[in-house]
Amino acid sequence: MKYDFTTRLNRTGTGSFKWDEMYRKAPDLGSGIVPLSVADMEFKNPPQIKQAIADWLDDAVLGYTDPTDEFLDACVDWQRRRHGWQAERHWIVPTAGVVPALFNAVRSLTKPGDGVIVQPPVYYPFSKAVTTLDRTLVTNPLLRTTRDDGSPYYQMDFEDLELKAQDPNNTMLILCSPHNPVGRVWSAAELRRLLDICVKNDVIVVADEIHDDLIMPGHKHTAIMSVADVGEYDHILVATAPSKTFNIAGLQASAIFVPNDDVRDRFRHGLELVPSSELNCFAYPATIAAYTKCDDWLDELIQVVSANFEFLRGFMASYLPEVVVYPMEGTYLAWADFNAWGLSTEELESFMEKDALLFLDEGYVFGKGGAGFERFNLACPRDVLEESLERLVHAAKVRRLGSFAEGDQA
Ligand SMILES: Cc1ncc(COP(=O)(O)O)c(C=O)c1O
Repeated sequence: MKYDFTTRLNRTGTGSFKWDEMYRKAPDLGSGIVPLSVADMEFKNPPQIKQAIADWLDDAVLGYTDPTDEFLDACVDWQRRRHGWQAERHWIVPTAGVVPALFNAVRSLTKPGDGVIVQPPVYYPFSKAVTTLDRTLVTNPLLRTTRDDGSPYYQMDFEDLELKAQDPNNTMLILCSPHNPVGRVWSAAELRRLLDICVKNDVIVVADEIHDDLIMPGHKHTAIMSVADVGEYDHILVATAPSKTFNIAGLQASAIFVPNDDVRDRFRHGLELVPSSELNCFAYPATIAAYTKCDDWLDELIQVVSANFEFLRGFMASYLPEVVVYPMEGTYLAWADFNAWGLSTEELESFMEKDALLFLDEGYVFGKGGAGFERFNLACPRDVLEESLERLVHAAKVRRLGSFAEGDQA
C-alpha cells in the first residue's frame, strides 16, 4: 500500500465527537479502546488534502466565502468521471453539510403537515428533519429477505411505496443511496422503479448519495440522475459530499445538485433564511484536492475496508454464527443482527458498552426494523477491528450468550 491505513490514531482530547462521546458514556475507560460508531474514519486523511490546505493557507485571506469555479468544476467532473453522469455547474448549491441540506430541502420544498417518506432502518437525521420541522413522518420500511444462495438481503417494498406515494399529502421521499446502515447499493432497476412511482405521484426525491464513492468490489453505484429522464429533473435533488469518502466531515463541504431552476430557487431561498449556511474557507481547497488528486488513496481505502468486512464476516461465522451479518455492498458500515441473543435493546447496548467495551451505533436509533442490530464502523486499522471482535467474543462467552449458552467457558 502506498498510503497509511495501519497507524492507530489516538484522538482522545482532540475534539473528536466519536471519541468524546465514548468517554462521556464510559468516563473511566482508560486508553486503548477505539470507538467504532460515528461515521468518520480512524485513518489519516489523504496527504494530498492536507498539502492542498497548507499551500492554500500560505496566501489565503480567511474571509467570507463563495464557491469558486474550480470547486464547482471539481464536483461536476467527479460525478462524471466516477459515476457517469453529466451535471451542469450552475445546478450546484454548496451547503455546510448534507444534513443541513436535508433539513433545508424539507423546509423549503414541503409544507408543515406534508408527509415525507423515509425507508427505515435509515440514517436517523432523515426522520429528525421531518419531525423537527413539523412534517409527518411516513415510513416505507425496507424488507428483509434472503437471496437464492441463502445470504441475507434488504430490498425496497415497492407495493407499500406506491400506496404511500399515492397519498397526495405525501410530497417528498428522502432516499439513502447507498443505504446507511443496511449497506445496500441500489441497482439501476430499483432506482428506476422508485423514480417511476415518485414522479408519477408528484413526490420529490431527495437522494442522499454521500456514500456513493464507498462501493465494495463487485458492486456499482448507480447515480439516480443517470437513470432519470430530463422531464423528471424537477423531481430530483442529489446530495453529494467528499466528507465520508476522504474523512473530511469536519470541513462541512457538500455539493447539492438541483437541476430544476425553480426547485433550486426555492432551495436557495430556504438557505437564505438560515444564517451561516455557507461553506467554511477550508472546504474549497480540500474538496478540489479530494476530487482531483486522491483517486489512488480512495482505491486503496476500498481494499482495506472490504478486507475488514470479509474479516468481520468470517470471524462472526466462526465464533458467533447466530449473529446475522448483512452483505456490505457499499459504505464502510457493517450491519449485524444480534436478535438471536434474545436481549432487549437496553440489555444489548449495555452488554456492548459495559461487557465488551464496544462503542457501536445501536440499531434501534435507525428506526423501525433496527432493534437488536448493531452498526460497526469498519474504517479502522485491522488490529483495532481484531481486538474489538475478540472483546466481543470473550464477553459473549462470559455472559453465555448465543452459541455459548450451553457449555463453552471463558
Ligand atoms: C446517509 C448520510 N447522510 C449524511 C451524513 C452526514 O452528512 P454531513 O456530515 O455532511 O451533514 C451521513 C453521515 O454519516 C450519512 O450517513
